[in-house]
Amino acid sequence: MPIPKMSDFDLKGQRVLIREDFNVPMKNGKITSDLRIRAALPTIKQALKAGAKVMLMSHLGRPTNASPREAFTLAPIAQQLSLLLKQEVPLIEDWIGGFDMKDAQIVLLENVRFHHGEMENNVELSKKMASLCDIYVMDAFATAHRMEASTYGIIKYAKRACAGPLLISELTALAKILEKPAHPVVAIVGGSKVSTKLALLDSLVKKVDYLIIGGGIANTFIAADGYPVGKSLHEPDLIDEAERLTLEAKERKAEIPLPVDVVVAERFSEDSEDYIRLVSQIDDNEKVFDIGPDTIKNFASIIKKAKTILWNGPIGAFEIEKFSHGTEALAKAIADSKAFKVAGGGDTLAAIEKYNIAQNIDYISTGGGAFLTLLEGKNLPVITALEERNNRDEKVA
Ligand code: 3PG
Repeated sequence: MPIPKMSDFDLKGQRVLIREDFNVPMKNGKITSDLRIRAALPTIKQALKAGAKVMLMSHLGRPTNASPREAFTLAPIAQQLSLLLKQEVPLIEDWIGGFDMKDAQIVLLENVRFHHGEMENNVELSKKMASLCDIYVMDAFATAHRMEASTYGIIKYAKRACAGPLLISELTALAKILEKPAHPVVAIVGGSKVSTKLALLDSLVKKVDYLIIGGGIANTFIAADGYPVGKSLHEPDLIDEAERLTLEAKERKAEIPLPVDVVVAERFSEDSEDYIRLVSQIDDNEKVFDIGPDTIKNFASIIKKAKTILWNGPIGAFEIEKFSHGTEALAKAIADSKAFKVAGGGDTLAAIEKYNIAQNIDYISTGGGAFLTLLEGKNLPVITALEERNNRDEKVA
């Protein structure tokens, strides 16, 4: 079903409330990656250029009544936005009761989650937010899996509601991967636990030609193959699931290629001795922290054949240099590939930044949970709300 888009409306002189996701990683009050802020810039510039009165809203973290306000303020975001837009973006502390604005002016509203009822999708709060604007623009793909007052509830009550360009481009890139991808399709899924990625693996195994897995997930599959994994992170109670997924892949002539060799150590530390082992030779006291050189070669040759690549999660414990070779080699193989490439999910972005390959990826999603929700084949509630809104408005028109 179609959804209304920001480009469908004349924004001139309109009070346009744009929900972005500026929930960026911070350390000691400083932003450590502004990817989500930069991703929102085209939407913001478009609205400003059209002469709208632009109000930006976002959450940051999960503040509670007991949280110190300073720990969750959007002040650092306002500063970064001012820098990137080369114009002052004032932070409005007290906004829910309304305030005056001029055409082509821009403001950032303080953390939406400071308002009681935001996360509970409170109807009264949704209505108050809706009354601030003529047009509500949902552009926060990374929060599109949340049914909150500022992301979901407001869609029903705003005079007009639509999707912003960032949200649309995220959906378009993911549809290209999920709907009619060019084959072979290779998915690379890293992470520590099968349990947290089971729904994703379940969905991907039905779609891809190769499902390369890494981290603790791969250890559970290695154990399912009958090899000892020593003290490695793995989930013995999910061995049956690993066997089921392997069988499902085989039945549709897809593959879940497993490591043949790995890098092991007794401890996750810079100074622990590390060894390359065949998967059949992992000692009782050892833990797997990375894939070995022969596995790197196998996985890189699979990536080379791909026409579509989806990457979510590093393949080894890449925070420590000596366990980072697998992730680095695969990141380079992905960068060199001519396939259509989409990457997303927290640690994936850290790896992309570390190996400086962002310019070689066709689309880097701003979403974590929302990205996984879509890949798991589930609907995003915000999109359903926008579709319903479109339907309702068309009937009225
Ligand atoms: C995210 O970082 O995944 C989004 O901003 C959603 O944040 P939340 O998990 O606190 O709702």
